Amino acid sequence: MPKITFIVSGKETVIDAEAGKSVLEVAQAHGIPMEAACGGNGFCATCKCKISKGMENASPRNDREEGMGVTEGTDRLGCQTVINGDMTVEL
Ligand code: FES
Repeated sequence: MPKITFIVSGKETVIDAEAGKSVLEVAQAHGIPMEAACGGNGFCATCKCKISKGMENASPRNDREEGMGVTEGTDRLGCQTVINGDMTVEL
């Protein structure tokens, strides 16, 4: 199972995540306060986060992320980022 380390306001929470779920789905299932104003449809960017480690284990950026201007560096939309392995996610 992929290990996802969420860092929220400096506090780390490590979760065993199910591969194939989105970062948003895993966050919501474990009480991590990731916003999702559009319900995970890629139209609001309230789920924007940083994948500070393990970007190679995330799905490639998609058209919805490009459309929201999330195109560079470690920034991703949590709802559009599918987990394929260990990563660290900063909110
Ligand atoms: S929840 Fe709206 S863009 Fe991800």
